[in-house]
Parts: sequence; C-alpha cells; structure tokens
Amino acid sequence: MNNKIIILEKEEESVELIKNYMSEIEELNIDAIFTNYEEGVKYASESLPHIVIYSSTNDNVYDTKIIKKLSDLSINVIVLSLNYTTNLVIQALRAGAKDFVSKPIIKKDFMCSIKKCCKDVVKAINKSNIISIFSNKGGIGKTAIATNLAVEFARQTREKVVLVDLNLPLGDVTTFINIKPSVTISSAIETATHKGAEAVLNACKQYKDTSLYVLAEPIYLEESHTMTPTHIFKLFEYLRESFSYILVDVGTNIDKMNMKILELSDLILLVSIVNLPLIRNCQRCLDLFNNLGFDENKTKIVINRYLENDEIKIEDVEKVLNQSIYWKIPNNYFTIMSSINKAMPVCEINENSNVTLSFSGLANKITEDIIIKDFIGS
Ligand SMILES: Nc1ncnc2c1ncn2[C@@H]1O[C@H](COP(=O)(O)OP(=O)(O)O)[C@@H](O)[C@H]1O
Ligand SMILES: [Mg+2]
Repeated sequence: MNNKIIILEKEEESVELIKNYMSEIEELNIDAIFTNYEEGVKYASESLPHIVIYSSTNDNVYDTKIIKKLSDLSINVIVLSLNYTTNLVIQALRAGAKDFVSKPIIKKDFMCSIKKCCKDVVKAINKSNIISIFSNKGGIGKTAIATNLAVEFARQTREKVVLVDLNLPLGDVTTFINIKPSVTISSAIETATHKGAEAVLNACKQYKDTSLYVLAEPIYLEESHTMTPTHIFKLFEYLRESFSYILVDVGTNIDKMNMKILELSDLILLVSIVNLPLIRNCQRCLDLFNNLGFDENKTKIVINRYLENDEIKIEDVEKVLNQSIYWKIPNNYFTIMSSINKAMPVCEINENSNVTLSFSGLANKITEDIIIKDFIGS
C-alpha cells in the first residue's frame, strides 16, 4: 500500500481541518490538494494514491461518475458532503465510495473513515480494548464512571461493549444499571473451563436493546474466592473474541488479582478526587505501576467530583503527580444519586446534565485516542 492521499476540495476551511487531522497520522501523507476537480481526477488517475478525499459538488451525476472512476482504479474514496441525503449516501457507496463523512467534519468520524481505508497498515485494527477503572480507595466513583462510560461507548460507537464487574468480592454494577443476570462471572468461568468461550458470552447480559452487555459480580461472597489471575487471563481472552470495548470495574485492593487485571488492560483510568491524601495515594499507585513496568501512557488520571472553585487547583494536582489530568468529571450529587436510586445511567436521568456531557466527552476522547494510537501503533 502506498501512503498517499489526494484531496479534492474547494473549501479552504475544510482543507485546513483535514490537514490538521492528518498531521496526527504519520503513516499517511497528503500528496496534493486540488480545487480544480478535472485536474485532481487526472492527477489521481496517474499517481494512484491510496485515498482520495472527495468533497461532493452537489451535482449527483458528476459525483457518481468521478467516484466510480476512482474506485475502479482501486483508490479508496471518502466522500464529504454538507447536504447529504440517504439517497446521496447510497449512490456514493454504490459507485464504490469507501465511506461517507458529513460536514462539518467531526474528527472521530473522519478518523474512522481513514481507518476503514487502512486496515492493512493499522496493526491493531479490530483489536479490542480493555479499559480498567481503578482506585485504591472505595467511594470515589469507580462504579459510577465504569457504568456510565460503558453506556456511552455503546451509544457512540455502536460496537459491542461489555462491562465486567471484577470489584471482588462485592461488586455493585447491577445496582447502578438495572440488570438481572442469571449467571455471574465465577460460574461463567467455571463453565468455560469445560465448554469454552461460549459459556462466558452466554453469561453476558444485554442492557436493554443496546450493544452493551454486562458480566455481573458474583452473587455469593464465597464464589469470588475461587477466582485466580489465570481465570482472569482466560476471561479476557474469551471476551476479546467478541467485544470491541471491555470495561472493567476493578476492586480497590492492591493484590495479585487486581494487578493482573491492570497488567492486561490497554488503558487504566486511575480515579481520584481532589483531596490531598487521595492525591498522594494516586501518586503511590503511579509509582507502583511504574515499578511493575506498565507503559507510562497506559495510565490516565481522571478526577471525579470536580469543583471549579476548589481550594486545591488542578495545576497543583498535576504538579504533585507529575502528570496531566486526562479528564475531570464535575461534582453533581443530585444527578448521580437519582441515577443510582433509579438504577439508570445518568443519560437516562438527564441527557443535558453536566455529568452526562462529561461521560460522553470522556468516551469520545478515549475512542479518539485509541484510533490515533492504532495508527501510530504504539
Ligand atoms: N460525579 C459525582 N458527583 C457527585 N457524587 C458522586 C459522583 N460520583 C460518585 N458520586 C458519589 O459517590 C458515591 C460512590 O460512588 P461509587 O461509584 O459507588 O464509588 P466506588 O465504586 O469507587 O466505590 C456515590 O454513591 C455517589 O453518591
Ligand atoms: Mg464500586
């Protein structure tokens, strides 16, 4: 595969945006930009780039002809359009376009389209991501974050997401979203030893009619004692076969089991609140992860219950931790409590509340970072 991209676009603003997004992907280069489509098509037909980004002219017949011509040359065509209708999308795709992105261009949509065209360069493509939510103290908001983030991932990506409650021995995910699983993690793993991955998949219970599934905590305390780090390894292996995002609500203990979970994770969200003893704890966790040899980019700090006018400033926290804060979730006791009491995610309580928007923004940031990481292959 060559790494050339040609852009056919008359709007300067849109070109600037694309250039900006593309600067994050080292593997691909913008070879040429044309405002004159005739020249652009001629150049593309000769230089055969990997991708042509084609901004629709609003002349359907012309667009279809060009898309077909370029696609027939095995060029991946991404169509951009402001006034798009289902008909137009269908026509473009029928003519051979690889993907369709609406304007104004949203970074994530654009990057996903590029990713679709580059399956062979993106090493980690289709790789599932294990995202662990961890804090070595209880009551910080781990479960609230894990459940709401899982709901957001499913909503935004429509890919299969599983929320795994490994907060052993006493998980509580099922109290945050109303779900009544018939099988719990430990019995699923038990059955899987004889029957394989299917047993684990059957134990994942679908949340409403979404692409989110939940693997619940053990009902009985004793059940959790039978779980070992080897079980965890197997469990993740099975889940990776079917889910794009695996979110784990991890327990607070620093023990073999939890360290195994964190070691196997692609991303750790280390949750804290702005309070000196907790920040120090956070620092200790970072040191520990460092000693365990975790990649330093793997752990991201998430501040929960953030207050704009807190005595301790975020910059101070960043100084102590020597790391920038990845995300802040505002303090909103009312919405969170009403979500817990009704056993519903916050987006179902109030889609415009600051916490709902924050969870949505966090999910969006993580998916964007994952897409970019996939490209860079780090
Ligand atoms: N963003 C927030 N704003 C206000 N209160 C919160 C927030 N997140 C969590 N809480 C409160 O903290 C409590 C503990 O949250 P939870 O998710 O159960 O913590 P953990 O899983 O870390 O023990 C919740 O019952 C809720 O009252
Ligand atoms: Mg919890």
